[in-house]
Amino acid sequence: MAGVQLSGLALAVTRAGGLGSLPAAMLAPQSLQAEVAKLFADGRKPVNVNFFCHEPPAVDREREVRWVQSLQAYYDAFGLIAPAVGGPAARQPFSDSHADVIEPYAPPVVSFHFGLPRDALMRRVRSWGARILSSATTVAEARWLEEHGVDAIIAQGLEAGGHRGHFLSDDLSLQSGTFALLPQIVAAVKVPVIAAGGIADAHGVWAAMALGASAVQVGTAYLLCPEAETTAVHRAALQGPAASHTALTNVFSGRPARGIVNRAMRDLGPLSPHAPAFPLAANAIAPLRKHAEAMGSGDFTPMWAGQNTSGCREVPAGELTRELVRLI
Ligand SMILES: Cc1cc2nc3c(=O)[nH]c(=O)nc-3n(C[C@H](O)[C@H](O)[C@H](O)COP(=O)(O)O)c2cc1C
Repeated sequence: MAGVQLSGLALAVTRAGGLGSLPAAMLAPQSLQAEVAKLFADGRKPVNVNFFCHEPPAVDREREVRWVQSLQAYYDAFGLIAPAVGGPAARQPFSDSHADVIEPYAPPVVSFHFGLPRDALMRRVRSWGARILSSATTVAEARWLEEHGVDAIIAQGLEAGGHRGHFLSDDLSLQSGTFALLPQIVAAVKVPVIAAGGIADAHGVWAAMALGASAVQVGTAYLLCPEAETTAVHRAALQGPAASHTALTNVFSGRPARGIVNRAMRDLGPLSPHAPAFPLAANAIAPLRKHAEAMGSGDFTPMWAGQNTSGCREVPAGELTRELVRLI
């Protein structure tokens, strides 16, 4: 879960018998190096390193300028100077420089969001024996991923927190909930299927396995764990009435992602036709987020969370992991 966790949460999950994941999408190479070194400090173990693999967007200066202008009233109200457009993107797609950092550690599992990287990078990841996973939000994407050689498919239902993993079509109406999507993907492919979205307790895990899942991927339920880096405003929202209202929004990054509805989502979207392409929308929001968070407000923070926040508890991640598999 990029932005809310580092190796600490991944290690806690792995030590409890799960497959902990390190999200690398928002880590600069030096930070990635440090986190991967921590993951494998005491030897090789079942952990996954996760990357985004979006196509970097063509720069559309005019659109970025208009986006900044549409936020001008907030900069003025906060006494901030509008940021210059054209800044670097905070989220980078998987590249050879990422592979250079992780290859010496040979992570046994590497997962991707938004499809798969190009063939040469896929071969490189395979060269150290890694198993490759990626998310599908439709049966068509699951078939595509199987044809392109993934070892398992994450069936990401619409309930899931964070970015939608779609890559064949931007049409959100093609996507469905986890328990509609999962059995259809299980029927369509031969590789193992991992259920994701809205699974927050042992009964949810059991139900997903009954529908043919070989494993489950849980995100939201871990957000309050002490090992997560979830911000104070995000933690507060998860523990209050706001947590019962999530929506898909593109105003924080340019791509639809599910988060707790806040002022930015209400005022600007939640889905805005004006947001610059992923991941460039983030740059203009960043100063507003920083300012609001310093005042204790989550008005401009992407507070990614799935529809089912009932499993969020302030318990160690190892305890939560063991509890999730209680009925298996
Ligand atoms: C805060 C947050 C950040 C996320 N970041 C990523 C990410 O960096 N990479 C990724 O593949 N999925 C990411 N996801 C999606 C999860 O992998 C997974 O699909 C989702 O959490 C499952 O649904 P749930 O949130 O209802 O448990 C994120 C989810 C959340 C809640």
